[in-house]
Amino acid sequence: MMLKLLHYFLFTGLVAAENGRQAWLRYAPLPQGHSTPLPLSIIALNSSTNSPVNTAGEELQKGIQGIFGKQLSIFNTGKETSSAVVGTVSQFQKAFGSSPVKDKLEEDGFWLNIKGSTVQILGQNERGALYGAFEYLSMLAQGNFSNVEYATNPVAPVRWINSWDNMDGSITRGFGGNSIFFADGHVVSDLTRASEYARLLSSIRINAVVVNDVNANFTTINPENIQGVGRIADIFRPYGVQLGLSLDFASPMELGNLSTYDPLDPGVIAFWDDITKQIYDRIPDFAGYLVKADSEGTPGPMVYNRTLADGANLFAKAIKPFGGIVMYRAFVYNQLPDEGDWKADRANAAVDFFQPLDGQFDDNVIVQIKYGPIDFQVREPASPLFANLLETNTAIELQVAQEYLGQQCHLVYLPPLWRTILDFDLRVQNQSSFVRNVITGEQFKRPLGGSAAVVNVGLNDTWLGSHLAMSNLYAYGHLAWDWTSDSEEILQDWTRLTFGLDKTVVDTITQMSMASWPAYENYSGNLGEQTLNDILYTHFGPNPQTLDNTPWGQWTRADHTSIGMDRTVSNGTGFSGQYPPEVAAMYENIETTRDDLLLWFHHVNYTQKLKSGKTVIQHFYDAHYEGAETAQKFVTMWQSLKGKIDDERYEDVLFRQVFQAGHSIVWRDAIVNFYNNISGIPDDAGRVGHHPFRIEAESMELSGYQPYVVSPFEAASNSIAIVTSTNSTIGTATKVLNFTSGVYDLAVSYFDMYGGNSSYQVFVNNRMVGEWVGNIVDIGKLGHTPSIHLDGHSATRITFHQVPINKGDMLKIVGQANGVEPAPLDYVALLPAGVID
Ligand SMILES: *[C@@H]1O[C@H](CO)[C@@H](O)[C@H](O)[C@H]1NC(C)=O
Ligand SMILES: *[C@@H]1O[C@H](CO)[C@@H](O)[C@H](O)[C@H]1NC(C)=O
Ligand SMILES: *[C@@H]1O[C@H](CO)[C@@H](O)[C@H](O)[C@H]1NC(C)=O
Ligand SMILES: *[C@@H]1O[C@H](CO)[C@@H](O)[C@H](O)[C@H]1NC(C)=O
Ligand SMILES: *[C@@H]1O[C@H](CO)[C@@H](O)[C@H](O)[C@H]1NC(C)=O
Ligand SMILES: *[C@@H]1O[C@H](CO)[C@@H](O)[C@H](O)[C@H]1NC(C)=O
Ligand SMILES: *[C@@H]1O[C@H](CO)[C@@H](O)[C@H](O)[C@H]1NC(C)=O
Ligand SMILES: *[C@@H]1O[C@H](CO)[C@@H](O)[C@H](O)[C@H]1NC(C)=O
Ligand SMILES: *[C@@H]1O[C@H](CO)[C@@H](O)[C@H](O)[C@H]1NC(C)=O
Ligand SMILES: *[C@@H]1O[C@H](CO)[C@@H](O)[C@H](O)[C@H]1NC(C)=O
Ligand SMILES: *[C@@H]1O[C@H](CO)[C@@H](O)[C@H](O)[C@H]1NC(C)=O
Ligand SMILES: *[C@@H]1O[C@H](CO)[C@@H](O)[C@H](O)[C@H]1NC(C)=O
Repeated sequence: MMLKLLHYFLFTGLVAAENGRQAWLRYAPLPQGHSTPLPLSIIALNSSTNSPVNTAGEELQKGIQGIFGKQLSIFNTGKETSSAVVGTVSQFQKAFGSSPVKDKLEEDGFWLNIKGSTVQILGQNERGALYGAFEYLSMLAQGNFSNVEYATNPVAPVRWINSWDNMDGSITRGFGGNSIFFADGHVVSDLTRASEYARLLSSIRINAVVVNDVNANFTTINPENIQGVGRIADIFRPYGVQLGLSLDFASPMELGNLSTYDPLDPGVIAFWDDITKQIYDRIPDFAGYLVKADSEGTPGPMVYNRTLADGANLFAKAIKPFGGIVMYRAFVYNQLPDEGDWKADRANAAVDFFQPLDGQFDDNVIVQIKYGPIDFQVREPASPLFANLLETNTAIELQVAQEYLGQQCHLVYLPPLWRTILDFDLRVQNQSSFVRNVITGEQFKRPLGGSAAVVNVGLNDTWLGSHLAMSNLYAYGHLAWDWTSDSEEILQDWTRLTFGLDKTVVDTITQMSMASWPAYENYSGNLGEQTLNDILYTHFGPNPQTLDNTPWGQWTRADHTSIGMDRTVSNGTGFSGQYPPEVAAMYENIETTRDDLLLWFHHVNYTQKLKSGKTVIQHFYDAHYEGAETAQKFVTMWQSLKGKIDDERYEDVLFRQVFQAGHSIVWRDAIVNFYNNISGIPDDAGRVGHHPFRIEAESMELSGYQPYVVSPFEAASNSIAIVTSTNSTIGTATKVLNFTSGVYDLAVSYFDMYGGNSSYQVFVNNRMVGEWVGNIVDIGKLGHTPSIHLDGHSATRITFHQVPINKGDMLKIVGQANGVEPAPLDYVALLPAGVID
């Protein structure tokens, strides 16, 4: 018993409060029973402060101290046996005479040789050596004491991150607080977080970060800010992370006072040559430029009737002498004014614009292609542009920031989604041609290629706003190194490093995460129908009608009988014809198009039978109910981990899972109500529109409250909510309960808008059973884009558990308005055990 208790305490001894800032690099002590012969000292073969090898030595020291409580000294020479030696292959040769490395190392690759206490960590370059040190520490931190001997190389040279940070410190689609780089138009003076970020990134083998938003501000490259970003580069350098910048195409006018930004104008060329020289004078290892041009209103070469290749090559030529590269985004499209044109299709844009230019881009240009043809949706087919640029370098653009996927307030582990693209065989020239091999350059024998992920970490200690969302960043780095790595194994490594080795913790987080994208797809938009959120406002909550009849071209063409984009060549937009013949033939035919992309490629009746045997509409209903049900389970799964991880992170995650459980029901109801309303087709299972456990707020006796018709209608149960008569009053809603006596969970659906923190109290027979303040938006606790309206973004649900109810009891809710928020309420649900309504 004593022993068991001792073991328990040792095991839970690491359950100290943690705020997430160390992410997966916590170096937490291992539980009792994990030991291995350790090196007696560390030999780092470069002791220069800016050297990644020096960083590697310090990191090894810190890690071994944290994991084993042993303080090792760092030397830069010494006896190789019983030491951890870290350096480049050539440094090792210089120090010890010969190289032990048996396999070929490529740029950034490393060799790891662990034989008990003798450890060799040798990089092809210094950065590779640092990667190897992190790999060794990752094994130790997971209690993996295997002897190993292997070399590993990246599949592609470009493993970048894009950060959409603005000069004022805000972040476009940032959900974890303000910028770690910029504030008030300048680079911040305290770059501690930037340094911590570089450390995290080097441990996942990311080699560059573009630090400013793709909608770039020309002030980023004024002389003062070049010095500022130079300081960021200095902070990144010891971690082997290079700095890149997004450019505003019109800078020659805005910054340079020229009358044009025509890419062929000699003055414009001289302007960019000069800017580039200024940047390299300050940052000799500058990585390169990222350019978004002629897209969504940004300036670009097309303004001067020049080609996109002219635009890209302008920068390519300026940066070539310095060895830099240009990432040119393929996200170029014009707004489509008329949905009445059956053949108009935004999805066609990338191939239409770029395919004719294949072969015209300079060798140091990489066309950066979003994974799907539209915009980071919950499911899209692989962009056909990957199959259309055979003489151009390409990279894939992914998004770790969950812009359309719940904004880090919904758990969505993204690698399974990414894999649908990367593992897709495009059949170029009828040959096997997986997207993952195209982007590395291997498929078409291109010199450059790789990936960029939009991440958008912020000042929040959790970086992304959510602890669990960090698995996406971790996985991105590991996949960018090797796209064939197993998504689930990566997740499990991350979980052990982040939360410890407890098997229940690892299994539970694995189960939740692996079910999370399918669940989100189920309740947000399925059958290839994109994320059915509000594309005009927040990109967060449900609002399917915003996709249609707008110029943004994310159309669904839903009407009373039918839905989907006809993208066939025979009768539709012709998009399917942008793929190579075998794939085109597959998507052209409804019989050979997978169910999960059916509505992406075909316009069908709601009664169309799927391969599963269900109709389209019944699948919508079933999937939305099942997805929301899965999200409820995440709460209990997470609760099973109480005490197995520290309270701080436990509570943070629990808060988000509870929010997601409620918001998944908002999503479910909104989408099924919308399509039920438009199609008039009932749910075979009788769920849609029937809520036997709900009491609509508008059906209660109201005093100081009045009904309010919500827009969009489907964002409120029965489309009506109640609000206080003015924003300074108290409202009361009462109802005599006619429920079988028993114990219920009492859920209240309300709207949490920004601009006010209303407070609420719930009473049963004048006994208060719960109270809360509608403040999660105003205090930034969730970090998603907030809404000022009663809608699918602000709709929120809170649950009080185990409330005793007797038939005839009086339910009363008192709402106190605050600011502009009129204590809005939608409904109350009294839920017997196991019921979700
Ligand atoms: C050691 O690191 C410094 C700074 O990165 C670098 O300039 C130098 O070349 C390195 N020395 C060796 C021998 O690699
Ligand atoms: C330990 O790490 C090595 C090298 O990464 C790996 O091959 C092996 O599968 C790991 N062992 C366990 C038990 O995870
Ligand atoms: C560019 O940055 C400056 C300085 O922060 C700011 O005043 C200006 O509004 C920004 N311009 C745009 C178009 O965002
Ligand atoms: C552009 O004009 C502004 C205001 O006239 C001036 O301050 C600035 O120095 C000029 N910049 C260049 C590069 O000539
Ligand atoms: C671009 O071409 C269009 C159509 O040929 C013409 O109307 C326009 O003036 C041209 N613009 C410029 C800047 O040359
Ligand atoms: C063909 O296109 C027309 C619109 O031009 C559309 O109304 C019709 O439903 C389509 N036919 C089929 C079989 O998809
Ligand atoms: C490639 O496949 C398509 C569709 O299956 C077929 O029509 C075509 O003949 C094939 N081309 C070659 C060169 O085999
Ligand atoms: C789709 O529904 C319409 C209206 O009910 C009907 O006229 C049409 O025949 C249906 N089309 C198919 C392919 O079932
Ligand atoms: C998603 O919905 C489908 C279809 O109803 C169902 O088979 C699947 O189990 C659901 N998955 C999750 C994770 O909710
Ligand atoms: C209460 O519920 C019972 C059955 O559940 C129903 O028969 C009765 O009419 C209800 N009474 C009121 C006042 O709604
Ligand atoms: C970080 O986010 C958490 C939860 O979302 C929030 O409670 C906290 O205030 C934020 N902290 C910072 C420093 O922004
Ligand atoms: C009510 O809302 C208005 C804006 O709609 C605001 O100016 C006013 O301060 C609010 N009143 C209170 C008491 O917060």
